[in-house]
Amino acid sequence: MRTTVGIIGAGPAGLLLARLLHNAGVDSVVLESRDRAYVERRQRAGILEQGTVDVLRAAGAGTRMDREGLPHDGVELRFDRRRHRVDLPALTGGRAVTVYAQTEVCKDLIALQLADGGPLLFGAEALAVEDATTDSPRIRFRHEGREDTLVCDYVVGCDGFWGVARTAVPKDVSRIFERGYPYSWLGILADVPPSHDELVYARHDRGFALLSMRSPTVTRAYLQVPEGTDAADWSDTEIWDELDRRLETDDPAWTLRRGPVTAKSVTPLRSHVHEPMRHGRLFLAGDAAHIVPPTGAKGLNLAVGDVVTFARALLRYRDTGDPGPLDAYSETCLRRVWQAERFSYAMTTMLHRAPDATGFDDRIQRARLDRITTARSAEADLAEAYTGFPLDPQD
Ligand code: APR
Ligand code: PHB
Repeated sequence: MRTTVGIIGAGPAGLLLARLLHNAGVDSVVLESRDRAYVERRQRAGILEQGTVDVLRAAGAGTRMDREGLPHDGVELRFDRRRHRVDLPALTGGRAVTVYAQTEVCKDLIALQLADGGPLLFGAEALAVEDATTDSPRIRFRHEGREDTLVCDYVVGCDGFWGVARTAVPKDVSRIFERGYPYSWLGILADVPPSHDELVYARHDRGFALLSMRSPTVTRAYLQVPEGTDAADWSDTEIWDELDRRLETDDPAWTLRRGPVTAKSVTPLRSHVHEPMRHGRLFLAGDAAHIVPPTGAKGLNLAVGDVVTFARALLRYRDTGDPGPLDAYSETCLRRVWQAERFSYAMTTMLHRAPDATGFDDRIQRARLDRITTARSAEADLAEAYTGFPLDPQD
């Protein structure tokens, strides 16, 4: 098999890239190791930056998002029993975010790709990327019990944190920057309307809590829990009681709506960046190259930024012969990646309570929150990062 761009992984990065290339008349093949139902059910974050919304719309993948997505003009910070609303458009010159689950983005892109795009093979596991530094890199893969090879002009590894693409970069070229956090998130979905019409990020002495949503009838919520926690150890009542405690406020208008919990899972938190994001004709995009802790919901938006950068660079080369943007891919992406790493790290450490936190650490967290809620420049800094950095310094 032969194609122009071989894409490993049908998460949001791989699927969007296939769509952008298809729209521009570039052929691609997507290899995805799991089946379609698995990819469409996997629960992930659900906050789309303004730039992500614009890209999906321009790619022709925004119809359902425009109908069902929930535009949000603010987020709430809750601490010391206080509520503080961050007005996103007022602080950013009109930018906001949209609540639309990653699973829904994937469903929309899969439907489009199967209807009129290039091949999207489920159950096709990439085994290795070979000849990355030649003009025809290749992907060895297994599909329906048989091994095959996809010969490409370019390979884009969109295969997530556990994928194989990254391993094709030689050890003496790879640099890894990472940080773990001594806590995890217990996430739930519940069949109950959200208790508030915007997201609530809460810092509490008992630990972080986040109130989010998937739709006007489905609540998504998270609790900071110790590393190694088993979701099954938390009963539904214990989860709601703990959310209630961590979201406590002096505002008499506040009540937490409880309802049946339909899903529970635990996710560890980590920051991880692989540099460079390009080796020869192998390009890494999304979680294959970088992970952010979920506080601030940057993961999906970073993945979108990477594949838009790649697609633009490839088209520039095709249309003008200028290889500059392709050569600069890693550098261009990493600038944005590190801004998102910085923001996710800052949000995480400001809002979570480490097991060994001292009184000093507590005071610093409160001082950071106090600064954001009293200095417009600090609040604007948060709002700008939350609604998203530009895809390209020239944008
Ligand atoms: N061969 C084929 N497919 C693979 C392989 C392989 N060897 N290894 C992994 N995959 C597939 C996975 O099954 C998955 O569907 O690659 C896909 C990677 O998708 P994601 O993990 O969703 O990564 P990405 O598309 O970069 O999206 C980033 O996901 O983790 C969240 O917060 C993150 O929202 C962000 C988004
Ligand atoms: C989510 O709804 O899953 C979500 C929202 C905001 C975050 C993280 C996750 O910061």
